[in-house]
Amino acid sequence: MSARLLKEGVYSVGAVDWNERNFHGHTYVTRKGVTYNSYLIVDNKIVLIDTLRKGFEEVLLENIKDVVIDISKIDAIIVNHIEPDHSGAFPKILKLCPDVEVYGTERARQGILKYYGVNGNWNVIKSGQSLNIGKRTLNFIDTPMMHWPDSMFTYSAYDKILFSNDAFGQHYATSKVFDDEVDFTLLMDEAQKYYANILWPFNAIVAAKLSAISKLNLDIELIAPSHGLVWRKYLSEVMRKYFYWSSHSCKNRIAVVYETMWKSTEKMARKIVEGIISENVEVALFDVTKDDRTDIASYMLDAKGWIFGSSTHDAEMLPVIAGFLHFLRGSKAMRRISSAFGSYGWSGEAVKCIEDIVSSVSSLNCPSLKVVFNPTDVELDKCFEFGKAFALKIKNEI
Ligand code: FEO
Repeated sequence: MSARLLKEGVYSVGAVDWNERNFHGHTYVTRKGVTYNSYLIVDNKIVLIDTLRKGFEEVLLENIKDVVIDISKIDAIIVNHIEPDHSGAFPKILKLCPDVEVYGTERARQGILKYYGVNGNWNVIKSGQSLNIGKRTLNFIDTPMMHWPDSMFTYSAYDKILFSNDAFGQHYATSKVFDDEVDFTLLMDEAQKYYANILWPFNAIVAAKLSAISKLNLDIELIAPSHGLVWRKYLSEVMRKYFYWSSHSCKNRIAVVYETMWKSTEKMARKIVEGIISENVEVALFDVTKDDRTDIASYMLDAKGWIFGSSTHDAEMLPVIAGFLHFLRGSKAMRRISSAFGSYGWSGEAVKCIEDIVSSVSSLNCPSLKVVFNPTDVELDKCFEFGKAFALKIKNEI
């Protein structure tokens, strides 16, 4: 890949990581790969916005050289966020440009120093501060917890570009640059997945910050995130979605997520789904050992109803769903209705284990359902009725 022109004097100089499948350790399955975006602005001063993940230094340097030939001519690095996917190449750039000025929040300053032992000529940025680089003045907007405490946006009024770092990102490896160059449905699916797996826990902060930013009436033609495609055609769509997701809004859809040992819990799950369908409510069934946790979370982001099932094993729920529920608890979701089910042999603790975990992120006002060993026809009828009753609850809940 080479540098890509976004607007006169503004280039995308990032890298495509086609092969990354487990981002963030193993918290995010990235079946479409990942991009790490950095941006170069050439004005009286040459400014690099964010660096890339360690291992992609040479790609970044080659892309910068496409534009400015001499790396040492970079005058400033803006650190919008310190997470290593955006700062891993920082030490290398610093070495090549020892006199470069660095701009970022105080938390970013401390974090970069802790990660790399160097942070250069750091200028601490507070929200509302700006930096003149010639024709352009760059404005900084702090956005703590979008995604880490150090995060901030950079806005160029001259270019009408908001450099939003993690916000509005998607994990979508592609040779394209702009949102309208890829399939819209796939793009929005990835944007939803990204929100569910990166920003969902920070809904309240995202909502407040977006509201504050919208009051600034910034003239924005491009949103340039540090992952995925640059938004130019579908700005209002993605912005609307961010307001929708961050407000804990959800629709009449139900996720049934289960793990089964000898298929009894699975039989229950399938009958529950039939009961839900009989009430004409949208439902999706996920075997948590087969579906990606990342995709399940994406579906659940705006699903009003959550039903979880597990066989009982050693007086606990099964281990894969246990991991998923601990992960889900981090979402700090609100306004969800949930219930639990499962088969067991002699003690049946799994249902209670599920309820204990999900009660902090959902209302458990639908009775749970347990079956001993293999469900009989009568018990399967009960599963059907359980699904039907749950669907009715979802339909009737405001
Ligand atoms: Fe893409 Fe929070 O790093």
